[in-house]
Amino acid sequence: MINILFSARAAQWPVYRAPLETAFAEKGLEFTLTDHTDSPETIDYLVYAPAREDDDLSVYSNLKLIQSLWAGPDKLLKNKTLTQPMARMVDPGMTQGMADYVFGHIMRHHLEVDRFTNAKPGDWLMDWAPPLPAERTVAILGIGALGMACAKVAHDYGFNVIGWSRTQKDDAPFACYAGAEGLEKALREADIIVTLLPNTPATEKVINEKTIAQMKDGAALINPGRGQLIDDDAFLAALNSGKISGATLDVFHTEPLPAEHPYWHHPNVLVTPHVASETRVDTAARVVAENIARVEKGQNALHLIDPALKY
Ligand code: NAP
Ligand code: GLV
Repeated sequence: MINILFSARAAQWPVYRAPLETAFAEKGLEFTLTDHTDSPETIDYLVYAPAREDDDLSVYSNLKLIQSLWAGPDKLLKNKTLTQPMARMVDPGMTQGMADYVFGHIMRHHLEVDRFTNAKPGDWLMDWAPPLPAERTVAILGIGALGMACAKVAHDYGFNVIGWSRTQKDDAPFACYAGAEGLEKALREADIIVTLLPNTPATEKVINEKTIAQMKDGAALINPGRGQLIDDDAFLAALNSGKISGATLDVFHTEPLPAEHPYWHHPNVLVTPHVASETRVDTAARVVAENIARVEKGQNALHLIDPALKY
């Protein structure tokens, strides 16, 4: 019998409970599942989306795995009491949702929709037709679980796609670059840039004055990754000068984005409130069950966060 603790916002427990129980039973696990315990040392697995950042994780002294319900590990890694192995969420439902969001906003910039939403009544902007997708280059910075899915959708649709990651990828159906030189190459070629990197010390402010200068004049940027990827002062200056023609921003240094923040008021910025994609309960419950079953069989958990790389 394994003991599983669900620890998240109170409202999530009634939503997750039955799908998790079903998924655990389907995997043949013998389990107890609860949302509270007076004996944390008896807990084998923690299904986790912390309601607070200062949880004391040291009380779970016999934990085999923390399975996060979030894709991004940055908030979780801030917890100084974390010593146990932790897996991030890689959920097919979330991946599909992210591909929808990113492709939709690629199309917004590709079709230059803002040209028309910002037009005045009577502006009859007939002298422009969008180039074909093959004439647009989309650079996806971060081609992990989410970025790769988005890149494939854009590639299959006909865009010229470039991927950029920490390690070189050789098996993608489009060009992939790595490292600082690879980033510069991707930025110089891209019309539309998507940032789907995790927030780590190595990715902080990857979009900064120097990298913006490497971009094509008039490039557009979509950021569903994390706000910390962008140096906001440099980015706003580039929006104001027209170097960056438009942006779709879903994530911010401070969330909710304060009402007075210039992003809200910029005509070429679309702010979405950290809704690019979320964990979907049914598919995620099966991912949690699969990972727990693997550990029970003595196999490595999937999608473990590397404490050194911070993702
Ligand atoms: P992932 O599978 O871990 O992929 C991360 C990608 O970033 C990998 O391709 C990785 O390279 C690359 N990378 C990491 N550090 C790098 C560096 N220093 N230089 C270049 N590339 C680097 O993560 P994921 O599941 O795709 O999620 C990505 C992020 O999306 C999350 O961390 C989270 O911040 C964000 N997110 C946002 C929402 C939302 O609603 N807005 C929802 C979910 C997730 P390698 O392939 O070489 O390892
Ligand atoms: C959402 O931003 C996540 O990291 O799951």
